Amino acid sequence: MASILDSLILFSLITLSLALDMSSERSNKEVMTMYEKWLVEHQKVYNGLGEKDQRFQIFKDNLKFIDEHNAQNHSYRVGLNEFADITNKEYRDMYLSRRINNNMKNKITSERYAYKAGDNNRLPVSVDWRGALGTIKNQGSCGACWAFSTVAAVEAINKIVTGRFVNLSVQELVDCDRKKNLGCNGGLEGNAYEFMVENGGLDTETDYPYLGRGSTCNQVKKNTKVVSINGYKYVQRNNESALMEAVANQPVSVGIEAYGIDFQLYESGVFNGRCGTWLDHSVVVVGYGSENGLDYWLVRNSWGTKWGEAGYFKMERNVKDPVGMCGIAMDATYPTKLRKNSEVTNSGYEKTQMLVPVLETPSYLA
Ligand SMILES: *[C@@H]1O[C@H](CO)[C@@H](O)[C@H](O)[C@H]1NC(C)=O
Ligand SMILES: *[C@@H]1O[C@H](CO)[C@@H](O)[C@H](O)[C@H]1NC(C)=O
Ligand SMILES: *[C@@H]1O[C@H](CO)[C@@H](O)[C@H](O)[C@H]1NC(C)=O
Repeated sequence: MASILDSLILFSLITLSLALDMSSERSNKEVMTMYEKWLVEHQKVYNGLGEKDQRFQIFKDNLKFIDEHNAQNHSYRVGLNEFADITNKEYRDMYLSRRINNNMKNKITSERYAYKAGDNNRLPVSVDWRGALGTIKNQGSCGACWAFSTVAAVEAINKIVTGRFVNLSVQELVDCDRKKNLGCNGGLEGNAYEFMVENGGLDTETDYPYLGRGSTCNQVKKNTKVVSINGYKYVQRNNESALMEAVANQPVSVGIEAYGIDFQLYESGVFNGRCGTWLDHSVVVVGYGSENGLDYWLVRNSWGTKWGEAGYFKMERNVKDPVGMCGIAMDATYPTKLRKNSEVTNSGYEKTQMLVPVLETPSYLA
């Protein structure tokens, strides 16, 4: 009797788990329909013989990963973004190109924004600089993330200081900043700020538009210096509080490790997936806040508006390791720009972003 009951229980457990399994598996037909829809949405055209079928296999594998991830209780979701038809290896080879900064440890860091006794000693609970930034740009298959990160941070400080948004040229950095940076093959924001200071400024996007590939430096346009900066600073390394102080004042360029498939397929929420500290991608921290009990950095990417949260993503903040999530606090830099006499008026951003009454003391000051 007992053994029959046991078998019955075992049998129903097996059928139950099979049923569960079945419900989470998608039929080939369903996946094919999703693929066709995705191809249209992302305007994909394959020219290679059999490429559409090959890409379908990869799409299917990625979808399986997405379904499994989203069925679990994570603080971020993954989805069928435009990287859904490439493997993780292809993604890394094509989109991750930040150079490794071997000199990181020796950089003199700045305390420009550090809390000083007598200040009102508090920072805003949350900061969002997206209003000082232009539309998200798309680097395409050129590995110039470093140039996009630099340009966005400069566009932002220029807007904050002068009140005027000027769309600046990424292509000029790709073509002309060749002393230490490598165009579509990678570079570092610090070097790019250095180039801007030495050159005396940067041309506009309209005058020197982005091509999505490297080209010869246009000397005339290089000499058209529309927006300048005075210098640049390194944030104290491996200190998320120091990064917070800087971000409360302006957007900051950072390197992160973006190697994983869950970052490739990131869709929304606070990212805290597996990653290390090999800083292979440059982005810009444009704010911070908290969501569902998790502190996050708000970060701007250069992969178009279809990736992530309309081109932005959130990454967990205040993690145990001082390097920060994916190394976000390891190599942070920002451009500096002094106000001219004619520009003493507040841009409005300072009023809302910096002079608001602060509601909460950051944990490190409490
Ligand atoms: C999901 O995760 C959140 C935050 O980590 C937790 O508060 C919640 O209880 C979890 N829910 C389930 C169903 O595990
Ligand atoms: C800046 O230029 C880029 C590339 O031409 C364009 O896509 C974007 O809309 C412009 N941004 C703004 C805020 O004008
Ligand atoms: C980290 O930065 C904060 C804010 O500037 C500072 O108070 C603190 O001393 C720094 N921590 C270390 C270990 O230097």
